Amino acid sequence: MCDEKLHVGLIGTGVWGETHLMAYTNDPLVDLVCICDKNEELLAQRAEQYGVAETTTDYEELLARDDIQAVSVVTPDFLHKEIVIAAAKAGKHILVEKPMATTVAECEEMIAAVEEAGVTLMVDFHNRFNPVFTQLSEKLDAGDMGDPLMLSLRLNDTLYVPTEMLSWGGQSTVAWFLAAHAADLARWLFESEVKRVYSVSRSTVLKGMGYDTPDFFHTIMEYENGCVAHIENCWIMSDSMAAVCDFRGELICSEGSAIMNVIANRALEVYDNVEGATMPNPVALYEIHGEMRGFAIESIRYFAKCIREGTAPFITLEDGLRNTEAVVALHESAETGQPVER
Ligand SMILES: NC(=O)c1ccc[n+]([C@@H]2O[C@H](COP(=O)([O-])OP(=O)(O)OC[C@H]3O[C@@H](n4cnc5c(N)ncnc54)[C@H](O)[C@@H]3O)[C@@H](O)[C@H]2O)c1
Repeated sequence: MCDEKLHVGLIGTGVWGETHLMAYTNDPLVDLVCICDKNEELLAQRAEQYGVAETTTDYEELLARDDIQAVSVVTPDFLHKEIVIAAAKAGKHILVEKPMATTVAECEEMIAAVEEAGVTLMVDFHNRFNPVFTQLSEKLDAGDMGDPLMLSLRLNDTLYVPTEMLSWGGQSTVAWFLAAHAADLARWLFESEVKRVYSVSRSTVLKGMGYDTPDFFHTIMEYENGCVAHIENCWIMSDSMAAVCDFRGELICSEGSAIMNVIANRALEVYDNVEGATMPNPVALYEIHGEMRGFAIESIRYFAKCIREGTAPFITLEDGLRNTEAVVALHESAETGQPVER
């Protein structure tokens, strides 16, 4: 094992880029050398808040540095490919946010570049670090529940997410934003590939507000081993909800079943005059006496640890590609009204 610090760079310091900032600046084995964002004002604010000395608005400049071994790419869903390929060509190891890319061809180009450069690329499917799902996966692996048969996952956001939190909500979909997580979890828990996808979407609320993106998708994914997942994702839950995200699920197996009330992990409800009703998230991301913790931090730290120690992450290039294939099929089915065979 090597105990030298890993020197990293961050490209994209927006909403989720801040999680990478928190993870890296709280990791004593990581040195966050330089951060990059096209938005100069945001970049300066992040650099000051997290004490990062070097910044640039040009990602090529960051990638040209010899003192950076690995980068996080945290740009909008549809802006991953170009930066990831440039990072691979520059010899950097890469952590890219989910989804890997929004077309299969883009994923294939990224994989070719990464393989040619001999670098590591991990997609940040952080729910594989969520204790709800890691414990379920362990139960399945131990055979305590028999064979998985059907999984229902409901992962929804409030209207705030596509209309206020993201500046690019209308350029993506709730499927890229949330079904990508659910489809990865289903494939991981079922240990099987998607065979057929059938999805139904509707566009009323967001369309009426001028956003060219569906309100919701209801999706059935059938797997090669016979398992079936029902995945529900919407971007239109009421803004009066205490948490922006709702996540629940149920797994039925041949000899057992499980209920995943992920939202119930939020045991603390706070009502005040500043934020109104809130439910802080003591599982995904939280601060404990000045240290950042939670599964959103764990996946980023895990990537850094793998690169430092020269080990291969258990989230593979194929995981990224298969996920994008499934979400592309989901969109195709919703558009045509027909099931899509893989
Ligand atoms: N794992 C999760 O749960 C989770 C949660 C939120 C977002 N995400 C993912 O993270 C990614 C980013 O989402 P976000 O919510 O942070 O979006 P965001 O819009 O808040 O941030 C993206 C940032 O990238 C910057 N950017 C865009 N193009 C750039 C370029 N060429 N060079 C430098 N900077 C550039 C933008 O200026 C912006 O600040 C998306 O892929 C999203 O799906 C993941």
